[in-house]
Amino acid sequence: MRIYMEKDYAAMSRRAAHIIAAEIHKNPACVLGLATGSTPIGTYQKLVEWCKAGDLSFAEVTTVNLDEYKGLSGEHDQSYRYFMNDNLFNHVDIDKDFTFVPDGLAEDAEAECAEYDELVEALGYADLQLLGIGHNGHIGFNEPDTCFTKETHVVNLTDSTIDANTRFFANRDEVPRQALTMGVGCIMAAGRVLLIASGEGKADAVYNTVCGPITPECPASILQLHPDVVIVGDEAALSKLVAAGVEVCK
Ligand code: GLP
Repeated sequence: MRIYMEKDYAAMSRRAAHIIAAEIHKNPACVLGLATGSTPIGTYQKLVEWCKAGDLSFAEVTTVNLDEYKGLSGEHDQSYRYFMNDNLFNHVDIDKDFTFVPDGLAEDAEAECAEYDELVEALGYADLQLLGIGHNGHIGFNEPDTCFTKETHVVNLTDSTIDANTRFFANRDEVPRQALTMGVGCIMAAGRVLLIASGEGKADAVYNTVCGPITPECPASILQLHPDVVIVGDEAALSKLVAAGVEVCK
């Protein structure tokens, strides 16, 4: 794992965006695995900025997103499809037909999950998979559990995730209780994983990801087995790693 420590959220976002832009420059027709949540917003803003300036093009890029709330349509302003359109796709030269997010309204959610795995496999998996991290170490919506789940699946969100995501909804009751998420299979099959984290609230999760045991109780800990992981965090998110003496690049 290569770990980059940046001073703050803005610098973390810039560093992460550079890594994604480099991937696109290397292979303009790459497959990007993308993530939602508040952490990647600054990264997407940078990519939009460079695209608008003519320094980057998404014209040949294909994207696959990690997850979607079950029961929300792509038009719902808290759906992850809406988030992606609003924060990235509407502002860059990407062909939206080549942007994929699980369908939260699929009548048969299990079938939708199986089809999503087939799609990601047919695309040859992500060249670069961007990840945020939950306070409990979740990636995508792979919540702490007694075993890792390989396939895309329907998951019951934990109380802590529902609490954390309530800030985006009118109230806690509005937060969907289930989601469709890529399993660890597609995530681990990506050529490179880029995990970003910001703020003190993520310090324990980041520490457990890097230094803790590989356990489904901290789903992100499986990344210790991936051959090409880059973590970009701000000082607060990496504070526990640094305190433990883990070497970080500055
Ligand atoms: C959600 C998403 C995750 C994301 C996490 C953290 O649960 N499914 O992909 O990493 O939130 O979000 P934030 O970046 O807002 O802390």
